[in-house]
Amino acid sequence: MAISEAPIVAFEITVNGEARRVAVDVRTTLLDLLREHLGLPGTKKGCDHGQCGACTVHVNGRRVNSCLSLALMHDGEEITTIEGLGTPDALHPMQAAFVACDGYQCGYCTSGQIMSAVALLKEPCGPDDASVRERMSGNICRCGAYPGIVQAVQFAYRNS
Ligand code: FES
Ligand code: FES
Repeated sequence: MAISEAPIVAFEITVNGEARRVAVDVRTTLLDLLREHLGLPGTKKGCDHGQCGACTVHVNGRRVNSCLSLALMHDGEEITTIEGLGTPDALHPMQAAFVACDGYQCGYCTSGQIMSAVALLKEPCGPDDASVRERMSGNICRCGAYPGIVQAVQFAYRNS
């Protein structure tokens, strides 16, 4: 079989609370499924190699790098993307914290940062800034907005 003739696989996946039936090339990553097939471009492609965290989404409530995960592995699972977190009129508290604390500059890494930060609130993490930086170290910000990002996580944590 030629590489371009990889089989198509059909499965069901719940994205932001909505059950979706999809049929994609078996090689499709979860990131590409979301962006290219389901019209959800809020999840960003940075490195496409598991190094930057821009593609972070939640799978059954836990954060994952969607560029490293094949879509078909998530048959029957629940995915949450930044589009499912809040709306412009009703921001999720973490989104509001990033705005309040200037936790971004260009914004390219921001959806991944926020998805990681929301998951972090349910993970074991020390209360100090160093612990937050360690737990957020999988999310790279080329603009260097780290002080605001840490401040936003701490702000949301105090108010959660
Ligand atoms: S795009 Fe997935 S980790 Fe960089
Ligand atoms: S805000 Fe620009 S890469 Fe993080």
